[in-house]
Amino acid sequence: MSFEEQMQQKVHEVELKIQAFLPAEEGFQKTVFEAMNYSVLAGGKRLRPLLMAETFKMLGGTDEKLLIPFMAALEMIHTYSLVHDDLPAMDNDEYRRGRKTTWMTFGEDMGILAGDALLNFAFETAGKAFDAAENEEELRRAAKALSILSKKAGVYGMIGGQVVDVQLSGKPIEKDVLDFIYAMKTGALIEAAMMIGGALAGADAQVLQKIESIALKTGLAFQIEDDILDVTSTLEVLGKLTHSDEKNEKTTYVTLYGIEKAQEEVKQLSHEAVSLLDELGGRDTFLEALILSLIHRKK
Ligand code: IPE
Ligand code: IPE
Ligand code: MG
Ligand code: MG
Ligand code: MG
Repeated sequence: MSFEEQMQQKVHEVELKIQAFLPAEEGFQKTVFEAMNYSVLAGGKRLRPLLMAETFKMLGGTDEKLLIPFMAALEMIHTYSLVHDDLPAMDNDEYRRGRKTTWMTFGEDMGILAGDALLNFAFETAGKAFDAAENEEELRRAAKALSILSKKAGVYGMIGGQVVDVQLSGKPIEKDVLDFIYAMKTGALIEAAMMIGGALAGADAQVLQKIESIALKTGLAFQIEDDILDVTSTLEVLGKLTHSDEKNEKTTYVTLYGIEKAQEEVKQLSHEAVSLLDELGGRDTFLEALILSLIHRKK
């Protein structure tokens, strides 16, 4: 099977796993359930759950009963971050994942509440890993995964990055601050993905630290490519309106260095990530191919 065929199959499997946790659209609060499902089911690359599962496998994990709830939980947190990122008070964007953004479809109030709901529902979902655990060791692994998830999603992670991103919109930024923003707003959830995969496979602290640096490089490359696609792609291909960064007067790798140099940086960081991965036994794994495929992604 080609890489693309494998990818398609894996994404399909991830979709089914995530869908199984989504809420039924019923009750007096039906609207919020619809808004939650609208954003999650719009599809997306499902990169974070994929990275989680592939890291888990690379490190020898086999039993997926703890993994699956965390895969769904992380995709919910990622989706909520996008729902809020698109709000008028933030990036004020109208398209996401090929459809109108959640706030455009359900109103700003429901956009805020659906994001809040997805965040909390993510932790409710991750909690199911504790019900599935059958012994002390599994409980310990689930606890480690939960602590990674909460830290990387929060003020020391994704939210922290979004704070500095919006505060500095319209202002010139030095490279070290831009790197901080990218590491946090995007790197943190990629780190969460790979570290949780590792933690659930039983990786020790040293290995987890290595995974964290591989994921950081992967995340930085991913955000730089996102900035490039924002100026080079189209709504049809990307699923979101381009030139959002220009509209919001964001400093990006593209505004600082130009497209060509930014693309070089994506390549460089991705190759660094892969050579660190090789040290952990990742040579010729699907995970390696996945990280490298992101260099040339079209969306
Ligand atoms: C978009 O993430 C936000 C960034 C961190 C750049 P993705 O590009 O992974 O979005 P989906 O999940 O595929 O929609
Ligand atoms: C996104 O950065 C980071 C998060 C949503 C956490 P962007 O604002 O560049 O993401 P897109 O381009 O809207 O997907
Ligand atoms: Mg943003
Ligand atoms: Mg945005
Ligand atoms: Mg962007």
